[in-house]
Amino acid sequence: MDYEIRPLTQGFGAEIFGLDLASGFSDNLAQDLVGAWVDAGGLMVIHNQTLSSEQHIALSRHFGPLFGDPNESPLQDTVSRYIHPDHPEIYRVSNQVSTDGKPKGRKGAGTYWHSDVSFRDRPAQASLLHAKTIPPVGGDTIFADQAAAYEALSDGMKAILDPLYAWHDFEVAARTQYAKPVIAENDMDGANRARHPLVRTKPENNSKSLFVNPGFTSHIDGLDAAESQAILDFLYQHSIQPQFLYRHRWNEGDLLIWDNRSLMHFAVMDYPDDEPRYMERCTVIGETPA
Ligand code: OGA
Ligand code: MN
Repeated sequence: MDYEIRPLTQGFGAEIFGLDLASGFSDNLAQDLVGAWVDAGGLMVIHNQTLSSEQHIALSRHFGPLFGDPNESPLQDTVSRYIHPDHPEIYRVSNQVSTDGKPKGRKGAGTYWHSDVSFRDRPAQASLLHAKTIPPVGGDTIFADQAAAYEALSDGMKAILDPLYAWHDFEVAARTQYAKPVIAENDMDGANRARHPLVRTKPENNSKSLFVNPGFTSHIDGLDAAESQAILDFLYQHSIQPQFLYRHRWNEGDLLIWDNRSLMHFAVMDYPDDEPRYMERCTVIGETPA
């Protein structure tokens, strides 16, 4: 299949036109897309797709095992009711409620800077989000390149940060990011808490990225609370400067694939409740950060 690939910014991201993955794709094409995605710094938009759930899952598995796959762990309990009833590999994001009163997906998912599932020992690698219904304007998603943010630091600051570890805890989001705390007992029993290097290396190309996020990072290991907060506050304002950002304005049919190892993202919830937004996400389980 012939397709066109264009860069999205000077630093990272690529968009692809001219593919129709719903009509079928070879393993070779899928592997080419994985390679192009790594080369694009872990952000790729494939426009105009109409993937079935099965096709979305099949493509996603070329990136690695999925949360919800047979023999793999599910996402945390808090989101279990947002999982697709027929496909445990698919997490749904939506502001809509079904006729039976059940939500069609998580409302307000990711309306803060975060990296998906960073509170697990093996956090998300790729997330593949397929836009099915979007508002006429608004509901953009913003990405911040944490490899570029790391590279832009001085050698002195890099040397300070390189040996540090930080704790990530779902409870941070549960207690601070939502008006009504969303807490399930099992989410607080330690399964959704993990310690990761503050600077991690992507094995595919040895690039280093900052790996802390305001959504889930609770503190830096081994520092006093005030010391930890001062460093995190500096990193959070450093890492979302305009030159590190790409803001995605969605079209229906976009399949957006981002690498949680080197990007943070933020869902802008600026659209009204009566304008439906519905997206489906497959989430790849990554390696233990190192
Ligand atoms: C996600 C997420 C962003 C959006 O699905 O992980 O953060 O714009 N969603 O819906
Ligand atoms: Mn997210």
